[in-house]
Order: sequence, then structure tokens, then C-alpha cells
Amino acid sequence: MSDQLRLRPVAEEDLAVIERLTGDPEAAGEHGWHGWFDPRTYRRRWEETGLLTDDGGMLMVVGPAEPLGFVQWRRQRTNRVSHCWNIGIRMLPKVRGLGYGTEAQRLLVDYLFAHTQVNRVEAVTEITNTAEQWALSKAGFTREGVLRGYEFRGGAWHDAVIYSVVREDLGKERGDMTVLRPSRRGQDGPRRDG
Ligand SMILES: CC(C)(COP(=O)(O)OP(=O)(O)OC[C@H]1O[C@@H](n2cnc3c(N)ncnc32)[C@H](O)[C@@H]1OP(=O)(O)O)[C@@H](O)C(=O)NCCC(=O)NCCS
Repeated sequence: MSDQLRLRPVAEEDLAVIERLTGDPEAAGEHGWHGWFDPRTYRRRWEETGLLTDDGGMLMVVGPAEPLGFVQWRRQRTNRVSHCWNIGIRMLPKVRGLGYGTEAQRLLVDYLFAHTQVNRVEAVTEITNTAEQWALSKAGFTREGVLRGYEFRGGAWHDAVIYSVVREDLGKERGDMTVLRPSRRGQDGPRRDG
């Protein structure tokens, strides 16, 4: 799959995909819908920066023919002199559950470790977002624990789970850069405890 999937900067024609995945409740999905916001937000930021700055960025996930979704990252300060990246992802509904989200997040980690000096890439997802937890785990992330009452969505506060990958994980977990962990399809989902 890795030779079929790649990340690339956002082009103007991709903005419709990004706006759909963030501004259409059905496309955003249960865990990705946080209410209406200015639909020109991404276009304005794209015109100013191409959605790539020193503090974060966004790249399209593309298959052989068309965009399948996007990945993003933002600076998360860890002390006065250091920071890590916090990443996010949204795939189009028609391509979910096919392994692309796993591969896209693996590619993003590779990209960030290759082109920035950070030591840690982290991701936070709601505790009920089983697909993202499995995708992160398969992409080589380690589950660190539960963040209680972390995210407000749909009229309630929700617990979340934090995952990370650090540089020293690369040799151990991602030696051949292909399959990291066996598929867990049909087995128990991620643990709900910390
Ligand atoms: C979360 C998301 C990025 C994962 O990407 P994906 O391409 O669907 O993930 P993958 O297919 O690589 O892996 C998902 C795993 O969870 C499983 N899964 C369980 N429920 C699922 C569901 N509702 N949708 C998709 N996969 C699901 C898949 O079977 C797969 O496991 P397997 O390989 O053992 O079969 C994608 O589903 C998505 O964009 N969802 C909506 C937005 C979102 O939740 N973003 C994350 C916010 S933190």
C-alpha cells in the first residue's frame, strides 16, 4: 500500500475536500463534527501560507488518482526550549476502514521526523473512536493513557486517549517500514482503561 499512497501539499482544488471533511456533519463523522464555523477559514489560511508554517501544517493524503483525506500537525510546546507535534487526520467516508488512515499517519510521522528535529509525535483521540485508536496502534504509536473529560463535543465532555511515537521507537517498531503490527480485525478493540 505504501507505494500507492503519498502525502503532498494542499492545492486549490483540494480545498473543497477539506471543507467537506470539516464542514459537512455527515462527512466529518461522529467524532469529527464540532459545529459550524467560517467555511472560508481554510481557503484564507491556504492563500496566506499554503497551510504550511513553522508551527504546523496540513498535507493531502492521495491515492493513485485522487485525494483520500488530509493529515495535519501543530506545535505542542513541552517546555521553554522544546516542543512536539500533535497530529490529526480525516479520511473521506468512502475510503475509511481500508488501511489508508494507518498508512497516512505512518507517512506523516516519517515526514516529520525527517524534516523537523522533534523527538515526539503525539495524537489524541476520543475514547470511543475505535478506528483511530487501531490505526494509531498499527502505525507504531504507543498508547499512553486516558485524558479524562478532555473534549467537548455534541453537548457533553468526553474522555480521550493519548498516543505517541518517539524517535527511539523507530528502530524497534518500524524496522522495515511496512507492517508494524498484525491486523486486529475481528479481535477485541483497544482497551478502554488507561
Ligand atoms: C479515524 C480514521 C482516520 C482512520 O482511518 P482509516 O483509514 O479508516 O483506518 P484504517 O483502515 O487504517 O484502520 C482502522 C482500523 O479500525 C477498524 N475500524 C473499526 N471501526 C471502524 C470504523 N467505524 N471505520 C473505519 N475503521 C474501523 C478497521 O477495521 C481497521 O482495523 P483493521 O485493520 O484491524 O481491520 C478514519 O476512519 C476517519 O477519518 N474517521 C473520521 C475522522 C476521525 O475520526 N478522525 C480522527 C479524529 S482524532
